[in-house]
Amino acid sequence: MSTEVAQIGDKMSDMGIEDHQERKFYPKKNKNVVLPAPNNMDSMIKGLEMLFDSDHVNIDEVKRYMSEYKSNPSDWHKYAKFDAHKYTRNLVDIGNGKYNLILLCWGEGHGSSIHDHSDSHCFYKMLGGSLTETLYEWPKGKKKTVMKQKNSFSLKENEVGYINDSYGLHRVENKSHTERAVSLHLYSPPFDMCQSFDERSGHITRCKVTFWSKYGERTPYVKPCKPEGENN
Ligand code: SIN
Repeated sequence: MSTEVAQIGDKMSDMGIEDHQERKFYPKKNKNVVLPAPNNMDSMIKGLEMLFDSDHVNIDEVKRYMSEYKSNPSDWHKYAKFDAHKYTRNLVDIGNGKYNLILLCWGEGHGSSIHDHSDSHCFYKMLGGSLTETLYEWPKGKKKTVMKQKNSFSLKENEVGYINDSYGLHRVENKSHTERAVSLHLYSPPFDMCQSFDERSGHITRCKVTFWSKYGERTPYVKPCKPEGENN
């Protein structure tokens, strides 16, 4: 069997790709095709489109591919918009409608609420600084109780995390008081509503997820309607 390196821009469907398991793709014509490591963020964006071309999401393959990109601020600084008071969500790409790729900018001490992921995959890659992820169990029953923490860990530059609703809920925080952090999140399928949870009671609020900017341009602020919150 001959091996071929896929060119960015090749469509996986054109190559008859089916098995992503070992980073070896088996097109119909008896050839192995290997997606090359992305050498900049634009290459990674194109490679991700290829990885999400089929309906099957190979979690390990996406994690590995995202971790192979070595963060370079000159690739992504145009999306990196910080706000003094809260983390920002900045849309980078919509992956042919299969996912949203979003650059999140975390000022010192900024963090998300405890939230679910609306039955989507959530991959996130650290582009700069470090973030702490804390996992929680889903609240059980209707009684108000303090939410149970499962575990907590930190991710640093170039590392990739993953969660979906079967893993539980999470909160992400930049615990540093001196360093900002930047992360790149991929949500598939994309969603615009999620649930956030009050740690002390498990109380649920439906939240609209919004973008601080799209493709590097500031989006107009839209006041959230009650009783929904806004997750940005
Ligand atoms: C996160 O905490 O996982 C990021 C939340 C978001 O996408 O706003």
